[in-house]
Amino acid sequence: MNIILFGPPGAGKGTQAEIISKALNIPTISTGAIIRGAVKEGTPMGLSAKSYMDAGALVPDEVVIGIIKERLAKDDCKEGFILDGFPRTVPQAIALDNMGVQIDVVASLEVTDEAIVERMSGRRVCPACGATFHVVYNPSSTGDKCDVCGVDLLIRDDDKPEVVLNRLATYHKETEPLKDYYSGKGILKSVPGQDKVEETTALMKAALGI
Ligand code: AP5
Repeated sequence: MNIILFGPPGAGKGTQAEIISKALNIPTISTGAIIRGAVKEGTPMGLSAKSYMDAGALVPDEVVIGIIKERLAKDDCKEGFILDGFPRTVPQAIALDNMGVQIDVVASLEVTDEAIVERMSGRRVCPACGATFHVVYNPSSTGDKCDVCGVDLLIRDDDKPEVVLNRLATYHKETEPLKDYYSGKGILKSVPGQDKVEETTALMKAALGI
């Protein structure tokens, strides 16, 4: 099954992707995670992408399309995959079509801007393994350390309030039009985001038919 997890920043795409990936035994491909890894390693791509991320803007299409092309060619994608954070513009969606990739479902997580701001302000991430927590909705068992690796949890650079507002504005302007694109193909399924992760997962699984 080839799935796109769609939705505004902080809607819970990464959280759901991790759960669905385990349930279906297929990999999650998160362009955000790949770019953050490149920033951490200080590669040329990472260095040029950092300024876009820090401002809450999108990294140029050609960079992200290149990342996806390379990743989808790997063997572990043969039985299916979950795209988290790609495509984010109409040219990215067209590029995916032109790669000959057949998408089965685009699951669109619907969360209000107000809830997004609250979720991002409480998000904590593990700098070692990338696990994501929320101080209220999905706390780590110790409060400030990762349940998986035990290292101190951090606030993501792009979760600062002013950057969050830019990311939301970018989403509405550049990414939300993709709903029409996929609705026109008859593969868009709406998933109303819930306040509890497991309640969202139940609706997500129903939308995916699993
Ligand atoms: P990316 O990493 O993709 O960020 P995003 O789409 O903004 O999404 P997030 O990772 O912030 O949130 P999420 O939806 O995964 O939510 P999460 O599960 O963490 O991209 C970052 C940047 O990279 C972009 O701004 C851009 O610059 C660049 N980039 C990436 N892809 C690109 C592309 N294709 N083109 C161009 N540029 C690109 O959940 C959020 C919080 O809420 C967590 O704390 C979580 O614990 C909590 N939570 C989750 N579910 C629930 C729930 N049901 N109830 C309550 N709390 C919940």
